[in-house]
Amino acid sequence: MRANLRESWWIGAVEVPTRVVLAPMAGVSVQAFRRQGRRFGAGLVCSEMVSCAGIEHRNERTLGYLRVGADEHPLAIQIFGSEPRAMAEAARMVEAAGADIVDMNFGCPVRKVTKTGAGAHLLEQTALACRITEAVASAVSVPVTVKMRRGVEDDSLACLRLGPSLVEAGAASLTLHPRSARQMYTGYADHTLTAELVDLVDVPVVASGDVTSRAKAEGVLEATGAAAVMVGRGAQGNPWAVREIVFGDADAPSREEVAAELILFVRETARELGERRAASFLKKFYGWYLGHGRFPKPFKQELVQLGSTDEVVTRLLAAAPGAAELLAQLEAELPSAEDEVLLDRLPISIYGGG
Ligand SMILES: Cc1cc2nc3c(=O)[nH]c(=O)nc-3n(C[C@H](O)[C@H](O)[C@H](O)COP(=O)(O)O)c2cc1C
Repeated sequence: MRANLRESWWIGAVEVPTRVVLAPMAGVSVQAFRRQGRRFGAGLVCSEMVSCAGIEHRNERTLGYLRVGADEHPLAIQIFGSEPRAMAEAARMVEAAGADIVDMNFGCPVRKVTKTGAGAHLLEQTALACRITEAVASAVSVPVTVKMRRGVEDDSLACLRLGPSLVEAGAASLTLHPRSARQMYTGYADHTLTAELVDLVDVPVVASGDVTSRAKAEGVLEATGAAAVMVGRGAQGNPWAVREIVFGDADAPSREEVAAELILFVRETARELGERRAASFLKKFYGWYLGHGRFPKPFKQELVQLGSTDEVVTRLLAAAPGAAELLAQLEAELPSAEDEVLLDRLPISIYGGG
């Protein structure tokens, strides 16, 4: 039977309105990305991984990741760490910040993370991974979920051993990106493992890896029995891919539409990260948005050279004057900043070291 991507499903008591989840991506999944993902049909969005040590030490930049907008729900905030007590404390902060789900990263292959005992390292540490899951699940009342890779080495089946134990320890859903940590992003995601995991557990499984179109999403859901697909790289600078996957709307966006979405993204990101950080963070997005034959190649180079985000906006409006009207509509629909959960409103006993 063909899966209906517009159907809702549940993670614990959280209803997820469509079967498409926007992937957590470090250096990408800022609030503007998540909000946009929700607008284009993603049923669930996720923050990038947030260090539980950073939360514990009240690192200002880390706490910035806990800002939740009224239009993001349902939202998962992902944490990483290797120590059950610190992960539980971070999970409490994440819940207080307004996340609907606490997601844990047991898959990051980057050495900076694995050498601390976190991320993909936990795939081979069943007892510790379960103790972390138990500690986090009993610390919060929202559902706790885990995102995994297949294992550390290329032929590893660690995810199939670990998955059922994590569910027993309290995980309400599992996401599997069936590449090994060693593979990073090479080769392909082997979703036969996702199908095996679905058979082994009685919680919803999300299939992550190489889903870039509606045809691929339907194929993966049918072949695996997963509850939902996760879309990562395919959505970078391309919310229209999310729309195509969820709604089957394959119309290419007009230049005006691309420029309006990019300008909104630039403005929101500058507000979120501050002008200095945003100006460098955004450079990779110009290529992602303007590619796909949407704008001539030299135009991207021109934007990357510009010094400030205001100059980028001015240049985009000059290249696509019709974008101004679309942009005004998009901005009018944004919730006011008042509706945002700000850190200084978090309970003092949790935020500020009390
Ligand atoms: C730039 C980048 C950053 C990522 N950061 C995270 C992260 O913070 N947490 C996580 O669980 N996965 C992270 N991932 C993995 C993605 O969530 C996803 O599982 C993977 O990219 C496969 O899906 P895709 O083929 O749709 O991109 C990242 C991937 C990319 C490309």
